[in-house]
Formats: sequence, C-alpha cells, structure tokens
Amino acid sequence: MEKNIVLLPGDGIGAEVTREARKILEYLAERYHFDLKIRVLPVGGASIDAHGVPLLDEVLHSCRQADAVLLGAVGGPKWDNHPPEIRPEKALLALRKELGLYNNLRPVRVLPPLRDASPLRPEVIEGVDLLVVRELTGGLYFGQPKGISVENGQETGVDTLRYSAPEIERIAIAAFRAARQRRQIVTSVDKANILASSQLWRKTVSRIGADYPDVELRHMLVDNCAMQLIRDPAQFDVILTENMFGDILSDEAAMLTGSIGMLPSASLGDGTAMYEPVHGSAPDIAGKDMANPLAAIASVALMFRYSFGHEQAAADIEAAILRVLEQGYRCADMSRQARQVLSTREMGDAVLKNTETC
Ligand code: IPM
Ligand code: MG
Repeated sequence: MEKNIVLLPGDGIGAEVTREARKILEYLAERYHFDLKIRVLPVGGASIDAHGVPLLDEVLHSCRQADAVLLGAVGGPKWDNHPPEIRPEKALLALRKELGLYNNLRPVRVLPPLRDASPLRPEVIEGVDLLVVRELTGGLYFGQPKGISVENGQETGVDTLRYSAPEIERIAIAAFRAARQRRQIVTSVDKANILASSQLWRKTVSRIGADYPDVELRHMLVDNCAMQLIRDPAQFDVILTENMFGDILSDEAAMLTGSIGMLPSASLGDGTAMYEPVHGSAPDIAGKDMANPLAAIASVALMFRYSFGHEQAAADIEAAILRVLEQGYRCADMSRQARQVLSTREMGDAVLKNTETC
C-alpha cells in the first residue's frame, strides 16, 4: 500500500520534533508494509525566508495530493513584525482553510506516570481522558470584515465572529460520532448568554443532538468551562466548541497532562488530513535538542488511526510512549519528576526502541 506523506517541519523546534516523529513513522510503515513516500517541504517562516511567502501554491498543491500531512510548528519573533499576509501563521490558516480541515481533534489524557507532572493535584486530574473537538475553519479566525482601518478619525481593529448553521452542523456531527466511540457525553461550549453566533450554535447542536439519543448533550458557557477544567476536569468526555474558544481551552486542557509538549492533534475534513503537535515553535529552545517530541510522535499515531485506519500501529505508538514514561524518562519540559532527562533525539530513540519491542 503506497502512502504519500508531506512533511512540513516549519519553524523553531518543528524540525527537531518532526525528525523524531519521522523515525517512528518510517519504522511502523516498514513493519506494517506501507510503501511510504515522504516529501519535505517548506512552510511558515522557513518558507518566507526561502521564497518570500509563508505557503507556496506548489506546497499547498502537494498537500492536497498527499495521503496525509505532518506539520511541526510555525512562527517566531523573527517574523513578528511582518504584515499579516506574510506572517508564518498565515500558512497554517491557509492550509486549514484550503484543505477544508474543519474538524480539529485534540485528545487530552492524563497518563498514570505523569500524574505528578501537572500543576494540579493528582486527585483532581485522576482519570482525565477528554477530547476537544475544535471547529477550525470558521469564527473569528476567518470571519469578514477583518482588519485595521480608520473609522471616524480613530484607528479601529475589526474581527468578525460568524457561523452558519451548516458549519455548526458538520462539526457537531463529528463530535457526536466521536462521543459514540468514547463515554457518550458531549459538552458543547459557547457564550449563548451574549453572542448571537453562540445562540445559533446552541440551537443547532441541540437539533443535531436529537439524532444521537445515546449521547448525553450538555451545554456549558465558556467562562464556566474554563473554570470546570481546573475544578473537575474528569467530568468531560468530548468538548465541542468553536474555533477561538477551542484554541484557548485546549491550551488550558493541555496543562492537565503536565505539559503542552504532550498534546497531539488531528485536523480532519473531506480530503487530506493534517497532523501536528499542539505546542508552537518554542523559539527559545529551538536548535538545542531539548524539545519534547512526544506530541509530534503521538500525532503520527493519530495519522495511522484516522488517515490510514490502522489502529494497531496507532496503539503501538501510544503504548511505546507510555512505556518510556513509565521507565522514568522525561524531556526538560517535565523534568521536575524525571529519573532521567532526555534530549529530543534521545526521547525519539527511546520511543523507537519501545515501539520495536511492542
Ligand atoms: C493552535 C495555534 C494556532 C491557532 C496559531 C499558531 C495560529 O495556537 O493551533 O492552537 O491559533 O490556531
Ligand atoms: Mg493554540
């Protein structure tokens, strides 16, 4: 079976963490007889430096043709003062929009060996296993009008929060389907006491929910959700929410695991899917061989699960990560309770070794 992968290392620690993820991907492809073809292409700041734009048309085209895309991270201080159109983040938004990746899955599981890694008390995070289903191609990130202009003599910045019913329907369906494979609870998060888009969100999610009587639907306001994630995170199974709320809540949820360096993601749509660690480019530690590659490696597990329908390979990776952590190995981001702190490369090797013996 041939699989064409586009690898977009991007900026900062992106290259280091995807290099480790690639080792595991190549190893498992061999084990399960995939004929893997990997193309490494520029994106983000790296693309701006080399080509003057964050995403070349050819690169977008290659992603469309691929069976899956693995992305490292984009962004860094070097490009912070660029105009919006030639900022690294623009590449990410363009990929999400152009590939139609409306369904962003961010699983958050507290692994037993990391019970003490979270700033929250172990009894609070006990049993946390939740999935953030974030709408990824609408809302404030993309709504028009958008921009800074002069209105009545005052400089004014505008973003537009807009959702159509079909946009809400398809992400709600994705969340209910995901919940069916899990503990059958969807918590839909909005700000329906204030926002019109949220009122439509709540109404539409309730309507779709009626088709899934086996799934319990709860509605929660976003400010309350931010609090509940700290107070009692184990109450959540699937959290369904719009783009901006999902961005914020998923970073918050990441800290339940002890480090954002643990969180993988899958962005799914109707065509090629994209996989990326949730953490950013971390320019402060880039190139130092100290970034945690586990989120990138776990993203490869999601690739096997969602793009290739190969649950065994996904499970192999997740089991190997767990074993490495049980052996006491950590990266610097979780070094507080490490028996041994590994470099990026050493952590990749440790996961590979454990995958081989899985
Ligand atoms: C994320 C990131 C991105 C986002 C940035 C890098 C544009 O924070 O994937 O959560 O805001 O969506
Ligand atoms: Mg974010």
